[in-house]
Amino acid sequence: MARVMLASFFLFARPCLAVMAILKQGFTNMANHELSPTMQFLAGIIRAPFLTGAIAPSSRRLARRMVLTSRVDQALAILELGPGTGVVTREILDSKRADATVLAIERSRDFAAELARQYPDVHVVEDCASQLRHHSKQFGWDGADSIVSALPWTNLPEPLQENILREAAAFLRDDGVFVTISCFGLHLTPTGRRFRRLLESLFSSVERRDLILRNIPPAFIYRCSK
Ligand SMILES: C[S@@+](CC[C@H](N)C(=O)[O-])C[C@H]1O[C@@H](n2cnc3c(N)ncnc32)[C@H](O)[C@@H]1O
Repeated sequence: MARVMLASFFLFARPCLAVMAILKQGFTNMANHELSPTMQFLAGIIRAPFLTGAIAPSSRRLARRMVLTSRVDQALAILELGPGTGVVTREILDSKRADATVLAIERSRDFAAELARQYPDVHVVEDCASQLRHHSKQFGWDGADSIVSALPWTNLPEPLQENILREAAAFLRDDGVFVTISCFGLHLTPTGRRFRRLLESLFSSVERRDLILRNIPPAFIYRCSK
């Protein structure tokens, strides 16, 4: 048995690891704008899997639903947390009012730089989403009308998860909407249930809406308000 496992390792695992190392090297040497958005996301996973926290960017259908649910079309102050390669950002720009301001907070340097290059109308900052209030000060906002987030909640340490959610809830205007997503199935696990309880402790209304099957993996939308 041990011999079979050792042979399998040499046959499969080592070549796979070698390919990953070559890809990582290639992606490290390549500027992000030389890659398509999907390849940028793949590069993000290879460079920082824990931070990126998903196997693919949100589908357009999911992104459109998130934006629709968060009433971006009526908002003046729009916050996006963890925009990644900008699938949701694109939908926000297509739906928002002409006089609305979009602030996007992204932790990954590569994603933030590429997003700023691609979307000059969006104020992109490279930082942790927990700093949302600090970065909102530059616009004189006293709150956000719409907060849209596809952060990898279950990958974040619990104190950080709580901190970001508390900040988002505190900064949301009374008539504002906070929207986020959760992978299908995760809502049944202890981690998923804990996340929902946390949402319920911070918002007076938490609705699980729209299972979007055309996404990898299928995902739910959470719509939260005060
Ligand atoms: C699952 S990806 C979603 C990307 C994009 N919004 C989408 O829907 O395709 C999560 C994104 O959150 C970013 N992220 C992770 N932790 C973060 C944090 N603490 N603050 C801000 N962004 C963070 C990652 O770098 C990544 O771009």
